[in-house]
Amino acid sequence: MIIPAADRLQHVSEYYFSKKLQEIQRMREAGCDVINMGIGSPDMAPSEETIEALCHSARQAEHHGYQPYKGIPALRKAIAQWYHQVYGVSLDPEKEVLPLMGSKEGITHISLAFLNSGDEVLLPELGYPAYRAVTQMVQASPRMYPLVEQQDWQPDLEAMRREDYSKVKLMWLNYPHMPTGGPPRREVFEQLLAFAHEKKILLCHDNPYSLVLPTGDPLSLLSIPHAKEVAIELNSLSKSHNMAGWRVGWVAGAASYLNEIFKIKSNVDSGMFKPIQEAAVQALQNPPVWHQQRNEVYRERREMVYQILDKLGCSYSTQQQGLFVWARLPSQVSSVEDWVDNLLQQYHVFVTPGFIFGEKGKNFIRLSLCNTKHILEKTLDRLNKF
Ligand SMILES: Cc1ncc(COP(=O)(O)O)c(C=O)c1O
Repeated sequence: MIIPAADRLQHVSEYYFSKKLQEIQRMREAGCDVINMGIGSPDMAPSEETIEALCHSARQAEHHGYQPYKGIPALRKAIAQWYHQVYGVSLDPEKEVLPLMGSKEGITHISLAFLNSGDEVLLPELGYPAYRAVTQMVQASPRMYPLVEQQDWQPDLEAMRREDYSKVKLMWLNYPHMPTGGPPRREVFEQLLAFAHEKKILLCHDNPYSLVLPTGDPLSLLSIPHAKEVAIELNSLSKSHNMAGWRVGWVAGAASYLNEIFKIKSNVDSGMFKPIQEAAVQALQNPPVWHQQRNEVYRERREMVYQILDKLGCSYSTQQQGLFVWARLPSQVSSVEDWVDNLLQQYHVFVTPGFIFGEKGKNFIRLSLCNTKHILEKTLDRLNKF
């Protein structure tokens, strides 16, 4: 390459799954029937009404043009109503909701809006890899905060209090936690909000899993009094409404923060396809029973995933929330990377190695619940010889 890439790419590489999916694709083209238990991409359809709304809207000629940068008013209103119904949080649909094309892009918009190079960013160790990659992309400095396994993967607040966080501007938080399935805890949220107030840190909560196999009431960080002063929250229809490919998410919080994020977003994209927005309005009205039935399917699959993990000699907690099971490898395994590659090459089963979520994940794997019972049975059969 004659022209060098920008310095900001020094520590950034292609997303792990982007590379791995290409490898799986090549294996499939060569005739291997690879079972992908790695990715959390829901395989079930959105509600029938959602699909109907999409088709109906797409038939209107005038729905194919550019759309408002802030999303259509009906979508912002539906999101605000849903927040009230699910979490008891009041949001002003005009000012406190900003629709996004999935929540992942929000990580970049928020980082561009609030971080200067040299600012420090608190990231969960373990956590979603995009937090770190984007922090490095905007030339800020990642600073990990530990999660304690014995306390359901909650932040180690004691250890955090001893640190000098004077350069920290922003903190990422994600409960139900991915990849460990740790639950959201109100008292932890309260303590973190007090900490964020004291240290003047913007707390960014990423909340896409709250309706998937919840172990308690769904919780929003914004439901804690005064949260909006120092916190914003990302949310998404990807996992909660089986709409990962549609790219519908949003950021919620005080207008003052959202206005800054909007300065970035409105210069990056030109709005979301109207039929998708109208269908999202419909999806947000799915009755509770739709979510219960979907969770019932995941619950049954999870039992089978436990059997797969038993065959692999892994240990796991049965109290996890969300779309995955996080499991510890047998103690004799020295390299998770080799172990995962061996499973892929010999048994044609792909599982996610824990190290992609941080150093502490090196003895773990993550299995998704996004495969049918039939595929899970096939996986169990294949592993009979493991
Ligand atoms: C913790 C977490 N945050 C955000 C996302 C991004 O979700 P989306 O952009 O589909 O809303 C994911 C997706 O896997 C995730 O696991």
